[in-house]
Amino acid sequence: MASSAVVTTFNPTRAWWKSACIYQIYPISFFDSNGDGIGDLPGILAKLDYLKDLGVDVLWLCPIYKSPLADMGYDIADYESIDPRFGTLEDWDRLLEGVHKRGMKLLMDLVVNHTSDQHAWFKESRSSKTSPKRDWYIWRSPRYDADGNRMPPNNWESIFSGSAWEWDEETGEYYLHLFVKEQPDLNWENPDVRAAVFKTMRFWLDRGCDGFRMDVINMISKVPGLPDAPVLDSTKEFQGASLYYANGPRVHEFLKEMNEKVLSRYDVMTVGETPCTHLPEDIAAYVFPQNKELNMVFQFELMDLDLGGAEDNLESLTALMHRQWKLTDMKKCVSKWQTYMREHGYWNTLYIENHDQARSVSRFGNDTPRWRALSAKVLAMLQTTQTGTLYVYQGEEIGMKNFPRSWSLEEYKDVATINYYKQERTRRQKETGKENPNMEDIIDGFQRKARDHARTPLQWNAAPHAGFSTGTPWMRVNDDYAEGWNVEAEMKDPGSVWHFWKRALKLRRQHEVFVYGDFVLLLPDHEQVFAFERTLRGEKALVVLNFSERDVSVDLGASAGVAPKMRVALSNYDDVLSQSLGGTAVTLRGYEGRVYV
Ligand code: GLC
Ligand code: CA
Repeated sequence: MASSAVVTTFNPTRAWWKSACIYQIYPISFFDSNGDGIGDLPGILAKLDYLKDLGVDVLWLCPIYKSPLADMGYDIADYESIDPRFGTLEDWDRLLEGVHKRGMKLLMDLVVNHTSDQHAWFKESRSSKTSPKRDWYIWRSPRYDADGNRMPPNNWESIFSGSAWEWDEETGEYYLHLFVKEQPDLNWENPDVRAAVFKTMRFWLDRGCDGFRMDVINMISKVPGLPDAPVLDSTKEFQGASLYYANGPRVHEFLKEMNEKVLSRYDVMTVGETPCTHLPEDIAAYVFPQNKELNMVFQFELMDLDLGGAEDNLESLTALMHRQWKLTDMKKCVSKWQTYMREHGYWNTLYIENHDQARSVSRFGNDTPRWRALSAKVLAMLQTTQTGTLYVYQGEEIGMKNFPRSWSLEEYKDVATINYYKQERTRRQKETGKENPNMEDIIDGFQRKARDHARTPLQWNAAPHAGFSTGTPWMRVNDDYAEGWNVEAEMKDPGSVWHFWKRALKLRRQHEVFVYGDFVLLLPDHEQVFAFERTLRGEKALVVLNFSERDVSVDLGASAGVAPKMRVALSNYDDVLSQSLGGTAVTLRGYEGRVYV
């Protein structure tokens, strides 16, 4: 093995949650066991062997608690019970047992920035100004304009469109909701709220859950006084205000308290969701081991790569405008996080899909018939060869793609999509004076960016509705399941995306260098090829990925410190498998990727 020019600066401690492959389940669309069109807990139990076989170590369940599903379960009406549509607590116990029996672990989604407006806490809070729980939520008096019209307490825009404030006629005050009006924000300043949240966490931990994914956890502390946000878009009545609620003044204090009182007393893992944040220093503060807060967070910079609108727009959680992205920017972003965490000694996540993002093969690959499988495999290589805890989203392992542009607006079910559409339509009606303004460009954006694409039912086989349900699915199944894009067909085909993911996960398990090694980006300015090398105490790996349809030859250069004897351990073109690297020149065909070890 050739000696390396790279100085190894990073020697992280090993932990089960660092090398784990975590599979995210969106329960309503995973598998329906009883034909009511809604995926459920017994449905997940029935597929545990499938997940184990793929190479999954940990399951994360999106919310399955009692919920009116105003935001698909992220509006929780009771933290300590299961929504009957998903099953019962006994079903959950059985699922946990099945997961543990197979040597896997189970994470729950902790959604405590807000509750449902149907939660008993909110009902009580809303009942009167003197309710003991009034202060559990964020209530404020109205403002009035010069003409005496009632206005919300500030100009904050909800992440799901419109004002972030809802008027309550009964008690004559507004309450804050960063998301839809059915999701009132909890007031974390109140110690009773924190105690109640901690109690809920203990409920699940004592029942055996292995940790939490924490929903928008960087939004729990708002800037005191809730000042008006700067007007960045004067055409809009309400303004993005993440400046005042993302990474707020007390968030670290709250998380330290949570860690001290709850998390540190269990052997569990945590991952926080931290949108609207691109500064590595801001991200690191949540995850520095010495800070004793969270194990890792989901940062959004990669997800924001194709985000349309203003250049510096970070209000990206559900942004529905698309822009063309550049491979050089993607490389810069990946390398920034791989390097920063290494230099500063904290841990990060790897994900390119989740229930809030359109399908990666449609965004970052090429979902046309000729390139779809190849480019999905390129993305699998990218994801499985970096440092961080790896998250795979349901359907990613079979290369599921966005549903077609021909589907009508009715097929979009997400409240974020629908609210955005309504708001934009009203705006255009006013602007053009037309009852039916042209909305085609908006639907174009949805086809590329809407969260709905991640939420179509998982495609299990070629039976009606892709075998997801014997009834009518709550959401339409993508048409391509009948053309071989389903689990059963892919498991039978050794050349499928599914088999590729399985091999890639196995390779990652076999070589610690991928999980723990140093990362060096090669060819940073190349517009087609993403190449990097990994090094860990003499062990070396090289990843070379062509992100274009065109053949390309590159010279990795002397700085690569490449070892001529390295061989292709994984590739989406079979004929190069086990070929040795030889020199520093590599020629790749369209969307060809190779991993050398
Ligand atoms: C998170 C969830 C998303 C949800 C939002 C509000 O971003 O992932 O699905 O709509 O928070 O809870
Ligand atoms: Ca069901």
